[in-house]
Amino acid sequence: MKSNIIEWDNRYAVGIEKIDAQHRELLKMANDLCLGRREGGAFIHNVVSFLRYHFLTEEELLENIKYPDIKAHKRQHHNFIMEISDRFDQLAAARQPIPQNLPGHLRSRIIAHISLIDKKYATYINIIDHSAERRIREQGLPTELFLG
Ligand SMILES: [Fe+2]
Ligand SMILES: [Fe+2]
Repeated sequence: MKSNIIEWDNRYAVGIEKIDAQHRELLKMANDLCLGRREGGAFIHNVVSFLRYHFLTEEELLENIKYPDIKAHKRQHHNFIMEISDRFDQLAAARQPIPQNLPGHLRSRIIAHISLIDKKYATYINIIDHSAERRIREQGLPTELFLG
């Protein structure tokens, strides 16, 4: 089992407090698994539950901001959950212990999703924020008018 910790890095931040807090928590849970602080199936089950909750939070946000790539993003979430829970169900059904590489794989998968997929909507939010700011500066329009 890997014994290193991957520290949170501000490069992972999407700039939305609630989402960044959930991302930090996910990384912390994955680190705990990798360090063997939390053993076994029950904890992986908790990670998957938290992941589902996080994905729902994120999808609600993406709907609110009318993110153009929401469909593809939702599909990524769905595939992620299916992949992890399928793997986990297979192990549980075969009464096999969690393989040593599973925590590390789960952690890499979480970091990859945050830094590659989630970062795309962070960029989009930055663009609409700046457009809104510019509009307000130039035309004195309130932000909600632009975002709505
Ligand atoms: Fe996320
Ligand atoms: Fe996401």
